[in-house]
Amino acid sequence: MEKLVIEGGKPLSGTIRIQGAKNAALPILAASVLSDGNLIIENVPDLLDIQVMLDILTSLGSRAVLTGQKVHLDMSRLHSSHIPEELMKQMRSSIFLMGPLLARFGSVTVYQPGGCAIGERKINLHLQGLEALGAVIEETGSTIVCRAEKLTGADIVLDFPSVGATENIMMAAAAAVGRTTIHNAAREPEIQDLQHFLNAMGARIYGAGTDTITIDGVSRFHPCVYRIIPDRIAAGTLMVAAAATRGNVTLEQVNPQHLTSLIHVLKRAGVQIISSGDIMNIQCHNRPRRVERIVTSPYPAFPTDLQSLIMVFLSLADGLSIVKETVFEGRFKHVDELGRMGADIRVDMNAAYIKGVPRLYGATVEATDLRAGAALVIAGLAAHGTTVVEQIHHIDRGYEQIEKMLTRLGARIRRKSPEGEELSSPLDRIG
Ligand code: UD1
Repeated sequence: MEKLVIEGGKPLSGTIRIQGAKNAALPILAASVLSDGNLIIENVPDLLDIQVMLDILTSLGSRAVLTGQKVHLDMSRLHSSHIPEELMKQMRSSIFLMGPLLARFGSVTVYQPGGCAIGERKINLHLQGLEALGAVIEETGSTIVCRAEKLTGADIVLDFPSVGATENIMMAAAAAVGRTTIHNAAREPEIQDLQHFLNAMGARIYGAGTDTITIDGVSRFHPCVYRIIPDRIAAGTLMVAAAATRGNVTLEQVNPQHLTSLIHVLKRAGVQIISSGDIMNIQCHNRPRRVERIVTSPYPAFPTDLQSLIMVFLSLADGLSIVKETVFEGRFKHVDELGRMGADIRVDMNAAYIKGVPRLYGATVEATDLRAGAALVIAGLAAHGTTVVEQIHHIDRGYEQIEKMLTRLGARIRRKSPEGEELSSPLDRIG
């Protein structure tokens, strides 16, 4: 297994462009199966999860190639709606294909998805939503077969504003007969991006970004060219990295409006943040102040995907901070690893009590999931001494060449093989 070796203690400094949003690109690539012909999706990040989605689309008969942040798709030969089990297990987001494939073929076979080990991650809300549109679902072991001769619009109330369920229902309902209303819908920016993309293909969807989304089904979709929004979690990761290393970093191609909750928290801790259009500068000169209480919740509240990262920052603050996780159970696996680096964090149920320490120290630690892994890298950048982060395949699922990006900001970080040989990033090696 590859690892990242980090010599910490150097403030990050410089300017960097933010990658396109993984969590917007994945459902948008899935939604493209609704159309025939050639589509171009721009600003797509070159990530392992994106490669898996393209492999799935290829296995279903389409042409799906990523070159220079553009995905060229040809959906005219799409012939199958049976997602191969081995690909499905590699990435939870393959579940996004359920709604659009059901709409296009009248049936779809999927398997219980894989993905990050951050909790139970059920799909009951996806299935209930599709059932409400008229689908019949058979589950045998890990195989799920979903059939619907015709999808019909319905009024759907989500028990919880699940991002994935909202997106899956939107994609299926876009092709249903009549009107669908999703109540208690998730409001994440990626859902707005999906609405814009579906509408660019001819769908009639209104309300994304609010908790009520209305979808008037259409019978035909057409190809389009579409540009993905910037990745707010990648941007947030670099904001925290800049602040934790007491650096001075400018982000380009960022949407500050998608990051209001993080900006608010960092400012409360004493970080200077100035935004103008799609540019943001982050500077931190002093030891951060504690932040009494942060609660993760669906957008626009503080994102669960930045919970592990803000915890690294607060580990270095002056005083006691509390972070409560309400979205995923089991998302505190990074706490033990941070403890090895000298952080003082106690977990009680779904709350972490973080007593700031003056400094973290380098150690060998293990990435347990994507964002926990990123948090350990940031901890390594801020720490004194050498940190080795193992199991970094998790990190490659969500960050475009993380070591290259951080090196550009002056970090001393290298990717190494288990034998200690220096390596280029995995996607460079694929070519
Ligand atoms: C998406 C993001 C992920 C982020 C999460 C929450 C993508 C590709 N991933 O994941 O990075 O951490 O939103 O912001 O966009 N739930 C159910 N039943 C369901 C679906 C969800 O109980 O059918 C629960 C989950 O177990 C979890 C909560 O709802 O506790 C949130 O999940 P959800 O919003 O669906 O997250 P994802 O779409 O999986």
